[in-house]
Amino acid sequence: MQGRAALITGASSGIGADLAWQLSRQGVSVTLADVDMAGAGATAARIRAAGGQAIAVRCDVADSSQHLQAFQTHMQRWGRLDYALLNAGIAERGDLISGTSNRWQQTIDVDLTAVLEGVRLAARAMLTGSPATAPSRPPSPGAGKEGQKPEWKGVIMITASAGGTFPMPLSPVYAAAKAGCISATRSLAGPLASRGIRICALCPQFTDTAMVRGMQQADAAAAAETMRDTGGRLLTVDQVAQAGLHLLTDGSKIGTALVVLVDGSWVE
Ligand code: NAI
Repeated sequence: MQGRAALITGASSGIGADLAWQLSRQGVSVTLADVDMAGAGATAARIRAAGGQAIAVRCDVADSSQHLQAFQTHMQRWGRLDYALLNAGIAERGDLISGTSNRWQQTIDVDLTAVLEGVRLAARAMLTGSPATAPSRPPSPGAGKEGQKPEWKGVIMITASAGGTFPMPLSPVYAAAKAGCISATRSLAGPLASRGIRICALCPQFTDTAMVRGMQQADAAAAAETMRDTGGRLLTVDQVAQAGLHLLTDGSKIGTALVVLVDGSWVE
């Protein structure tokens, strides 16, 4: 990974900040893109203080021009994009039937639409050097088949959620958006593989971050109910980031469209 560059959205705290830190320890230059510039700046400063290379960029991923600008700033600073971690996310809560969902549209905008847009920006940057420029040629027929492998261009990793795979009655819009991310990972794997890009989805169970700490008690109880495999314990950001790091490494080139559940299951 040494000498490569990564852009991470939602990197001011939680899983994204830890992924940025872990990548920097591997010699990867990182761009931390977040709506919370103070938090992203603090994480970038911590990485630089430890000898790593990092910049912070203010970016609301739901704003297309800011999203594009973040990728452009990244390319101007590091000149290459090897890993795009589409990690920014928000949680929604509410009863869809009675109409109490607290931020339905915003959740779709951040957790699904911006992720699809991020895949496009990342793929363009990896293929053309500019997130604004579409690749000029479609992949040649047969590219990606044995003996005609396209050149390695990079990896896109979406932080989806285990909640995209099981019912979340208290957060139905969030669950639907995350399920959409998993579906997009599978649908886009072929078109990206033929262009030399791997895509995968990291699907954590409940993890000890600001997002979960902000949940109300009823939600937390419902969350704990789904955590039978972990003995009721929340995952740590480090556990989730380590799994993410493994998906990014060349060592995990065992296939694209990997949808990996990080659920804390264990066997004795
Ligand atoms: P977090 O709240 O610590 O991190 C979310 C990050 O996204 C923050 O840095 C926040 O500032 C940023 N963000 C929010 N809206 C944004 C926007 N519009 N543009 C740019 N940045 C924005 O929470 P956590 O847990 O680290 O979340 C990271 C990802 O992990 C999210 O996609 C979340 O859905 C996912 N996830 C979290 C789980 C958990 O239990 N904590 C479980 C499964 C998935």
